Amino acid sequence: MSSDTKIACVMVGLPARGKTYIAQKVCRYLQWLSVSTKVFNVGNYRRKLHGAHQMHSFFDPNNKEGEIARREAAAEALKDMLRWFEVENGTVAIFDATNSTRERRTFILNHCKKQNIQVIFIETVCQDENLILQNIMDVKLSSPDYKDMDPEKAAEDFRARISHYEEAYETITENDFTYIKLINVGSQVVINLIQGYLQSRIVYYLMNLHIMPRSIFFSRHGESIFNLLGKIGGDSDLSPRGRKYANALPKLIHENLGNQPLTVWTSTMRRTIQTSEQLPYPKLQWKALDELDAGVCDGMTYEEIEERYPEDYANRDEDKFNYRYRGGESYRDVVLRLEPVIMELERQQNILIVGHQAILRCIYAYFHNLPHDELPYIKIPLHTVIKLTPKAYGCAEVRYRVEIDAVDTHRPKPQPKPPKPVINGNSISSSNLTNVAS
Ligand code: F6P
Repeated sequence: MSSDTKIACVMVGLPARGKTYIAQKVCRYLQWLSVSTKVFNVGNYRRKLHGAHQMHSFFDPNNKEGEIARREAAAEALKDMLRWFEVENGTVAIFDATNSTRERRTFILNHCKKQNIQVIFIETVCQDENLILQNIMDVKLSSPDYKDMDPEKAAEDFRARISHYEEAYETITENDFTYIKLINVGSQVVINLIQGYLQSRIVYYLMNLHIMPRSIFFSRHGESIFNLLGKIGGDSDLSPRGRKYANALPKLIHENLGNQPLTVWTSTMRRTIQTSEQLPYPKLQWKALDELDAGVCDGMTYEEIEERYPEDYANRDEDKFNYRYRGGESYRDVVLRLEPVIMELERQQNILIVGHQAILRCIYAYFHNLPHDELPYIKIPLHTVIKLTPKAYGCAEVRYRVEIDAVDTHRPKPQPKPPKPVINGNSISSSNLTNVAS
């Protein structure tokens, strides 16, 4: 991907077709991969410029005032998006609005072309009444547009709003445009004129998304012999307490899932394979799920690393996400190697990943949209199952702690040392401070 690639993903579709959900997912995925990405939601501009409580008549295509006001909000969002590309050197912007007429799409495309920004239109088409209703209930009624309003009245108003949009809606048929059309949540996908690496990644990601209800479970392996010794990396066996955890895991998972199907993913390392041994589900080993490679430090304790490689140790504390072990990996490297795992997770239904501390931090950060500087410090304790349930936006989380003791392997971020006071260009230590003062 050339560094000057700029792409605007322009959402298209009637209200309540999951556009904002898709916009947020694409944004989270690309940010996780370190691609600078931002969503521009025209609804937010409309509320800012014209107030939050606009009733359905505002959206009537025959209402001239409403039409002008909505165009103004779109133009304002577009201006900010173009500025963001220019000034902040952004890579992917997501323009989240209905953009449901040819005229509006051509207007956006022409402005983007002038700045050499590629445009992909992402249209969501949904004829499934139940899904539309679900979307209205889950998302729209809690929108600021309907704050403090009777839910039945709000739903009625929203349906009238959809009807107004239907009057003017023109599905994409512009054959010279780059687009992807997602019909009935991916049961059919039409793609047109997609080009280049980043566009293909976005399209592939969109093709894998689904909204079927499911849960994703994470567990670290049971406590290992290396965990007990305070050593990192290696390929050691479980400790006796770790084996107890492996024995307890099937009951916990079954109590949660009942007879629903589940697939268990492990790394290729002994400690995750041993932890999953008793689980009566299909299993898959992924090399990509192996723990972060600590290179020359593999098998050492943190104290040994500090003594042998003090500079490396300090550099890791300084910027843990980017620090790469000599001959090993950084968290940034791990995120990239986990990308196929994320893609497959999006396609799948119930999955339990029996993994490692650094690996699960990366996957967890993707689902919760956590920034890179927080990612390497996320707490994923031993002997704990984390259950994530994807919701309209983000994920609900429950943690189950199994009552079998285990060591704590979490190292908190060290507090920065206070700078030494400087007098006449020479730094002084606190021990001679009193002398100087007197
Ligand atoms: O200590 C267990 C462990 O999984 C090590 O194998 C690995 O190097 C480490 O955790 C990763 O955690 P951190 O990045 O905090 O050192």
